[in-house]
Amino acid sequence: MAGREFRTQVAIIGAGPAGMLLSHLLAADGIESMVLETRSEEYVASRIRAGILEQSTVDLLRGCGLGERLDREGDRHRGIYLQWPGHRHHIDFVDLTGRSVWVYGQTEVQKDLIEARNAAGQEMHYEIADTALHDVETDRPCVTFTDTQGRERVVKAEVVVGCDGSFGPSREHIPMDVRRHWERVYPYSWFGILADVAPSTDELIYAWHSDGFALHSMRSASVSRFYLQVPNDTEPDWSDDRIWEALAARLGHGQDGWALVTGRITDKSVLPMRSFVQTPMRHGRLFLAGDAAHIVPPTGAKGLNLAVADVALLAPALAELIRKDDHRLADSYSETALRRVWRCTHFSWWMTTMLHRGEDPFDEQLQLSQLRWVTSSVAGATGLAENYAGLPIGL
Ligand code: FAD
Ligand code: DHB
Repeated sequence: MAGREFRTQVAIIGAGPAGMLLSHLLAADGIESMVLETRSEEYVASRIRAGILEQSTVDLLRGCGLGERLDREGDRHRGIYLQWPGHRHHIDFVDLTGRSVWVYGQTEVQKDLIEARNAAGQEMHYEIADTALHDVETDRPCVTFTDTQGRERVVKAEVVVGCDGSFGPSREHIPMDVRRHWERVYPYSWFGILADVAPSTDELIYAWHSDGFALHSMRSASVSRFYLQVPNDTEPDWSDDRIWEALAARLGHGQDGWALVTGRITDKSVLPMRSFVQTPMRHGRLFLAGDAAHIVPPTGAKGLNLAVADVALLAPALAELIRKDDHRLADSYSETALRRVWRCTHFSWWMTTMLHRGEDPFDEQLQLSQLRWVTSSVAGATGLAENYAGLPIGL
C-alpha cells in the first residue's frame, strides 16, 4: 500500500452522531482517534433527520459535557398524543415511568459534536473517497482512502470502528460465514415536511387515519416538523396546498376545536422505511455502531438514540482493550448492544404497524383495538412509555 501513512489508536469511519460521539467519549478516556467521512463538514452538520432524544441519551450528553445548549434550547416533553378520528389521548411518560424525552434535532446534536471535536483539535478527514478496510482480523487493521487532493492515504490503527451508516462499506467486512442479517421492508414511506410555523400542539401527535399515518413534531417555538405516510416511490413534489390539506385531514383539524396552523414550507423529502439488523457487531478488530449495524423505521424515534447507546457501550470497551489489554467488555459488546437493538427493533416495528394504514380491513380493526387498549389501560400505556422514553443504557 503506497501513500502517506497515519497512525492512530482508533480509526472511525463516518462522522455522523455515532462516529463523532465515539471520538468524543474516547478522547475523554485518553484514547486518540481519527474520523474519516465522505461528505463535507457543512453537509453533515445540516442534514435534517431525527428530532427526539430519549432520557438516557440526554443523561449521556450532559455527562460528557455536551448538554449546555441542549439544556438551554431543547424542549422537555412529558409524553405524546396518540390519536385516531374522534379521539386524542395523552400518554404521560413522566407519570408512568418517571422518564421524559427532549425535542432537540439531530442537526443540533451534530453541530454540538462538531464544535466540541473541533475545539479539542480532533483529526478529521472530510470529503474522502475510496474508503477501504484491511486486515481487520489481525492486531494491525488499517483503512485506506483517497483525500481531497487525490492522494492515497493509509491509516494504521489498533481498532477500526464502522460508524458509516446504512450504506457504508464496514458491515460487509464481517465475513459471510460469520454474519447474519434480518430485514423487513415496509410498503410505505414518510413524506417529511419542515415549516416555518409555530407548532399547533404542545407535544407530538401520532395520528392513525384511514388516509394514512401523520405525525406532528417540532424543532422550536417557530419551526414545525411533519410526516405523512405515502406509498413507496412517491416524489416529494406535492404542492404546499396538497400537503396542508392532507395534514389537516389526518391530524384532525376542527376536531374538538383544534386547529392546524399553516406556514411557509422550507423542506420536503421522502424517506423509505425498513428494519434491518446485522450480527455480530464485532469481528476481530472491527466494531460496528449505529446504522452501520441496524436500521429501524422512524416511528418510534429510535435511530439516533440507538446509535448513542451503542457508542456509550463501545467507548469504555475500547478504552479497556487499548489501555489495559482487557478484552472482556470488547468481547461482550455485540451481545450487550444487541439486547437493546432488538428491543428497539421490536418497538419501532410495533409502533409502525399499529399506526400505518395497510391494505387489509382486518388489520385496521386490530390497529384500532390496539390503540384503544394502549390509551385506556395503564399496563398498555406503560409499555409504550417505557420503550419510547427509553430503557437505561446497558439494558
Ligand atoms: P449516520 O448518521 O448515517 O452517519 C454515517 C456517516 O458515515 C455519514 O456521515 C456518511 O456520510 C458516512 N459514510 C458513509 N459511507 C462512508 C464511507 N465509505 N467512508 C466514510 N464515511 C462514510 N431517525 C429517527 O429516529 N427519526 C427520524 O426522523 C429520522 N429521520 C431520518 C431521515 C433520513 C433521511 C435518514 C437517512 C435517517 C433518519 N433517521 C431518523 C435515522 C437516524 O438519523 C440515524 O439512525 C442516525 O443518523 C444514525 O447515526 P449514525 O452515526 O449511525 O449514521
Ligand atoms: C421525529 C421523528 C420521528 O421519527 C419521530 O418518531 C418523532 C419525531 C422528528 O423528526 O421530529
